Amino acid sequence: MIHQIFNLSFLFFPMQHKFTSLEFVEFKKVEFKERIFLLHTQLIFIEISDIAEMPLEKSPKLQKKMFYIITFEFRKIHNKDMTTKNISLLPKAAAEFNSKKYWEDFFKKRQQSFEWYCEYSLLSEVIYKYCDRQNKILIPGCGNSRLSESLFDAGYNSLINIDISDVVIKSMIKRNKSARAKMKFLLMDIKKLSFGDCEFDTILDKGTLDAIYTDDQQINDVRAYFSESVRVLKSGGRFLIVSLAQQHILQELMQYFVMGFSIHIHGIKQDGSGDIGSKLPVFIFIITKLSEKSQRSVEFSMGDVNKPQMCKDNEHAISLVKEQQDYVMVMDRLAKSKLDDILSIELWGDNETNNNSQDPRYTLTLVDGDMVNGFYGVFIVPEGRETEWQFSSENGRRELAEVIGYKRLAIASLHRGHTYENIDQIKEELSQKVLDVAPPGMPNKYKVPFMSAGESTGYRKVQFDGKTNLSGSVVIQDVQNEDQTYTRQLIFSQMNKVVQSETRIINDPSKKKKKKNKDRVPDSSYLLWDIYKAMLVAFHFIPNVNLTSQDETLDVLLIGVGGAALPSFISKTFEKIRMTCVELDGELLDLAKTWFGAEETEAVQYVTQDGLQFIQEKVDQAQQDIYDVIIFDVGGLDDGRIFVPPKAFIEEGVLKNTRTLLKEKGALLINTNPSRVDNNEEMISIIKRFHSNVYRFDLPNSSNKPIVCTNNSFNFDSVYTKTKDLQKYVHGRTNGKINISNFDLESIIDYVITE
Ligand SMILES: C[S@@+](CC[C@H](N)C(=O)[O-])C[C@H]1O[C@@H](n2cnc3c(N)ncnc32)[C@H](O)[C@@H]1O
Repeated sequence: MIHQIFNLSFLFFPMQHKFTSLEFVEFKKVEFKERIFLLHTQLIFIEISDIAEMPLEKSPKLQKKMFYIITFEFRKIHNKDMTTKNISLLPKAAAEFNSKKYWEDFFKKRQQSFEWYCEYSLLSEVIYKYCDRQNKILIPGCGNSRLSESLFDAGYNSLINIDISDVVIKSMIKRNKSARAKMKFLLMDIKKLSFGDCEFDTILDKGTLDAIYTDDQQINDVRAYFSESVRVLKSGGRFLIVSLAQQHILQELMQYFVMGFSIHIHGIKQDGSGDIGSKLPVFIFIITKLSEKSQRSVEFSMGDVNKPQMCKDNEHAISLVKEQQDYVMVMDRLAKSKLDDILSIELWGDNETNNNSQDPRYTLTLVDGDMVNGFYGVFIVPEGRETEWQFSSENGRRELAEVIGYKRLAIASLHRGHTYENIDQIKEELSQKVLDVAPPGMPNKYKVPFMSAGESTGYRKVQFDGKTNLSGSVVIQDVQNEDQTYTRQLIFSQMNKVVQSETRIINDPSKKKKKKNKDRVPDSSYLLWDIYKAMLVAFHFIPNVNLTSQDETLDVLLIGVGGAALPSFISKTFEKIRMTCVELDGELLDLAKTWFGAEETEAVQYVTQDGLQFIQEKVDQAQQDIYDVIIFDVGGLDDGRIFVPPKAFIEEGVLKNTRTLLKEKGALLINTNPSRVDNNEEMISIIKRFHSNVYRFDLPNSSNKPIVCTNNSFNFDSVYTKTKDLQKYVHGRTNGKINISNFDLESIIDYVITE
């Protein structure tokens, strides 16, 4: 199954506000199959049978610790997942919520308190903030909730409760007549209030608007309710509505209360104290009645009611609410089911922690496996190492999870542009979020272990963060590795932020005296990546070539320079190789010279030109048999997809020209990534029209697999012997500085396969 991108915000609440019982909605806009069952307004069940593909919408800067979900798969969610414990009391059709008869029957059946969404305690902070104890307060649709009793007990003495149900009004009068005699309970319709204008300081609705607005047809009732509420409210008075803020309710509130009102939407994470709807996030709309001509302002807060953010417009406010709703839905599902697939969640910091970074603060990748050692653990990827195979590829992450052996492993990656003080700060920031995505069945007292590779969070120093005209945004950063060595990486944003090139860096030997010198310089005597080691081994596929005792000069053409790892190493290590290195992006070449030690010498020349054009020009000049080795080390975007190599390099004309420029026994080396070509077999079959033998290095721990194309056959013994010599030679050249195991060319030969 392919991993695709899925936009939750779109998925969960795009439906119209016409709800009937058990409604089935199929989305036409999306290419996957999904269904949404609605039992009534409060209950939404989602069944998605396939992974979805949606473009990731750009969102306004997110609230503190809000999330985007990048990839995931849901599995069937059964009716037992319903959010209520009282399903038998609920109507068959949502529209019944608006009928007097329904409520009379409801309260006959349900005589003890029935709490919608949550208890008073969850709302008290906001109520205290916006409502004085001396306020005259109206509670529309009071039902038999404990809300007004709790308010009364907290010192709010001027309370009038109204309800359409005679049964509930009588029972509430009876329930409160001795302890709270001053509190009033009146039988009254919220659409037709028998109070005078401007009588109340506050109106506090919990669940009543949600209950009466379940269908388009009720819009007139809703507007009559709003109009009556505004009439009886004093100027400066507040209409507080506690709602699940479903789309149609949200839209109506935002459209109705425009001129002459201010709106503060405050989201609250539920605590499970309600009898229904207690698992969904609940929102309090604080609507203040201002003078008729006042311009409306809208603000939104989540968590801390005293730190709202201004909303630009209705859409902005609606999107903030939706993000919260989506998040809770996903978390709920995660707590219930085992993931078949890998799921990544981005955690965004607020403006303060975000440090103006365009990246999230963390990415949490969840991998479910078999519980061998424990329920759940968090693995913090050392800073700067997040692009390593083990932490960034699906197989790598699965392997890590398997080694750790937990039912669920959360792999936390840190992001460039953020500052993390130490591991304790990271733990503190993540502790609640990781609990939100704990696996099903985790015991309450389970202590979630945090793990990492090495003791520190690692080290990252961004040396360059800019862009070039051709490659887009480019980052060059220094990172520390597990073995305490340092490397410099070249990263392109438009190439999935995969490290494009990497070189070992060391303390500048010319500045030995400065003890704390941190300005490391590239160490060209060190070749880091297996793909380049494989390419050196591949030189020995040409008979008579022996890199350690080369008599004759070898001519090499390299297309695609990147961080110049290979040419820098070659020029430092082998006297008899002459290289022409062609790079399309001249600005990148400059960066390679500044940061990666690419040096123009007699033997190594850098040319800024399109590699394909370079080859064509040579052929046009009737040149032939000039290179011993031609290397294509290129990747590129085609229709938004990454190709390694780009399709244009595997065209017949190009391969033919390449063959012309190669000497008879010469070899073409191509850096390929089998998952980033359209059709691997087709590519090989085109190449075989010009090179009878194609060998691939199936390197473990590397998604790139270089191929060697020659007309010579692979002589294992000869390549093996020469490579063994080469290994010793390189070791000697660097005075033993290069660890032989790092330069393990022999084992690379084991991975050669014939295509
Ligand atoms: C969802 S319940 C909310 C109960 C309570 N506010 C709570 O927090 O648990 C809706 C309440 O609104 C009442 N109601 C429905 N339509 C009404 C109307 N037109 N006028 C007054 N009350 C109404 C119902 O009887 C019911 O008690």
